[in-house]
Amino acid sequence: MSRKKHQEPPAVVEAPPEPAGRSGDIAPVERQGERAWQAALRPRTFEDYIGQRDLIDNLRVSVRAAKEQGWPLDHFLFAGPPGLGKTTLAHVIANELGVNLHVTSGPAIDHKGMLASLLTSLGEGDALFIDEIHRLSPIVEENLYPAMEDFKFDLFIGDGPHAKAVTMKLPRFTLLGATTRMGLLSAPLLDRFGFHWQLRYYDLADMTAIVRRSAALIAVPVDDDGADEIARRARGTPRIANRLLRRVRDFAAVEGDGTVTGQIAASALDRLAVDHAGLDALDRAFLSVICERFDGGPVGIEAVAASLSEERGTLEEVVEPFLLQVGLVTRTPRGRVATAAGFAHLGLAPPAKAPSGGQGQGGQGRLF
Ligand code: ADE
Repeated sequence: MSRKKHQEPPAVVEAPPEPAGRSGDIAPVERQGERAWQAALRPRTFEDYIGQRDLIDNLRVSVRAAKEQGWPLDHFLFAGPPGLGKTTLAHVIANELGVNLHVTSGPAIDHKGMLASLLTSLGEGDALFIDEIHRLSPIVEENLYPAMEDFKFDLFIGDGPHAKAVTMKLPRFTLLGATTRMGLLSAPLLDRFGFHWQLRYYDLADMTAIVRRSAALIAVPVDDDGADEIARRARGTPRIANRLLRRVRDFAAVEGDGTVTGQIAASALDRLAVDHAGLDALDRAFLSVICERFDGGPVGIEAVAASLSEERGTLEEVVEPFLLQVGLVTRTPRGRVATAAGFAHLGLAPPAKAPSGGQGQGGQGRLF
């Protein structure tokens, strides 16, 4: 397998910008213009990667086996809300393997010819990262199957009765897929991945370590309370932590002596309308619609989306997962329900019927 020298910058075919999503400092969707500096803060090795320990341990073993045995790494799929590190992991894996990473997204591969040109431009052993893989068209997806399984691609040359089927041999490559919506992936596509992993929100200790690491990289002094305050309000999401750190750094420079202290961080984040649990205006509006307009629910997501004039997808992929995770809302077969903690978060008295919310529905318990 031809391999690149370890740590060289990977060759990257850039994806188009992601859909706008919501604005605000804690929107986890990456914004145009921040891609370069967020990328500069990304860990490049397993050693540097903070959090997601189980996943990193598994990946280390697979990457080592692939390198030592000279076989291509299995196709891997990463799922989870935006900002948790799916793209970062693809870069880390390619770097650890010492291969080029080609980056694209489901919507960018808009016809079969585009897929053919992507696949035929891969080098032996390279990694292909497809973000938002649940948005591939059915035709493109079907043509991906033989590429994933047998490293081949079927093409028809010419039209009508003279068309000739040609099978092209592809280099052995690793597909790294990412999705915010595992539930939208077809079973045949899922089956072709050797490994699926649901990324989790990061706990407070990992978030604090990420804030400290990023602060050191951008040479911003941060004290314990400052790192803790940013980490608590970054919704368990490294991309948001890095963004908040940059905002708070500005306040520290203008209103303090440049050091990010707990007090400067708290006052800056209050003014940026990021509350003590990391909720922004849209999160609070979501909660408030359920608590106040729909009496705590149950209410369908379409009704909440219509009340907020927001896209259902943004609510499902970006807003709701964190509110479920921290136990402020729950999902029932009849719709979304605000928990007692959800009412309390807005300073409202919970009705007797409000569920307690317990440990949240993210399977990780409360983050903070
Ligand atoms: N920056 C963003 N995500 C990170 C992570 N998981 N570990 C270290 N630094 C990061």
